[in-house]
Amino acid sequence: MKGKNLQIDSQGRLRHFLSISGLNRQLLTEILDTAESFAGITEQTVKKVPLLRGKTIVNLFFEASTRTRTTFELAAKRLSADVLNINITQSSASKGETLLDTLRNIEAMHVDMFVVRHAESGAAHFIASHVEPHTSVINAGDGRHSHPTQAMLDMFTIRRVKGPDFGRLRVAIVGDVLHSRVARSQIHALNLLNTGEVRIVAPKTLIPAFAESLGVKVFHDLRAGIQDVDVIIMLRLQHERMKGALLPSEHEYYELFGLTEKKIDQASPDAIVMHPGPINRGVEMDSEVADGPRSVILQQVTHGIAVRMAVMSMAMRSKQEGDG
Ligand code: NCD
Repeated sequence: MKGKNLQIDSQGRLRHFLSISGLNRQLLTEILDTAESFAGITEQTVKKVPLLRGKTIVNLFFEASTRTRTTFELAAKRLSADVLNINITQSSASKGETLLDTLRNIEAMHVDMFVVRHAESGAAHFIASHVEPHTSVINAGDGRHSHPTQAMLDMFTIRRVKGPDFGRLRVAIVGDVLHSRVARSQIHALNLLNTGEVRIVAPKTLIPAFAESLGVKVFHDLRAGIQDVDVIIMLRLQHERMKGALLPSEHEYYELFGLTEKKIDQASPDAIVMHPGPINRGVEMDSEVADGPRSVILQQVTHGIAVRMAVMSMAMRSKQEGDG
């Protein structure tokens, strides 16, 4: 993929964090281990560490977000950085300024890191290929392409609950895989961590063409797809990215692909249920499941802070120690 090695510096360390593809197992494990040490900090009463004191981090969000933006902000604050939130949908873009002009203007304020969310696939790569050498870029979601910090907080959650041996796990990703940047990043991460079996479960209209080439098993029936799995990851129906009618109706989707307590019986007895949020209750899953004992959905949100602290501190360290 274009520009993927932008992510790693000459010594193999994380320089930008743009996508999971292009990284290696060792780096993913380093992110998870670093996040583990930060998870301890976020559970203490004094939650701050001085690692990024004096650094300025800009959250550059061209697309709405609550969970992702706020956990990036908390992560930056817990690393003692100064954080600026810029919501471009209501700002210069609507006045016609180009992406590069916006970038140059904010860079002129001496920024050390950009956290970027954009509706166009490739936006974070584009920005990373234009920033100054001392600036890092973290992708907080670009179009349908990639959402690497979400995938890593999901891997972190799976590892915390199920232990470090991904080889013995069966994982099913259920729903709108076609439009999901989260699913793409999860599949790459699960593959890099040598997961025993990765399945995707969706109606034919919501399965992307690349699916089988990534080594996942494809199912069109929910009960068969989640049979004996250890982890069920539900995805949101991404109506905002659907062109034309890909689904008969939400009600029919729920009947066929909505997760209920009864259908979960097919999965392994200690299977966990995940969702990146926001959940459409009564469409992707019942409230009984979302709030039930198997759900780790709120733990995912909490883990987002430690994982984002890990990625930010690793990217910044790459430059503090120099590139030579
Ligand atoms: C996801 C996203 O924005 O890609 N949500 C998130 O980051 N918490 C998934 C989604 O919107 O369905």
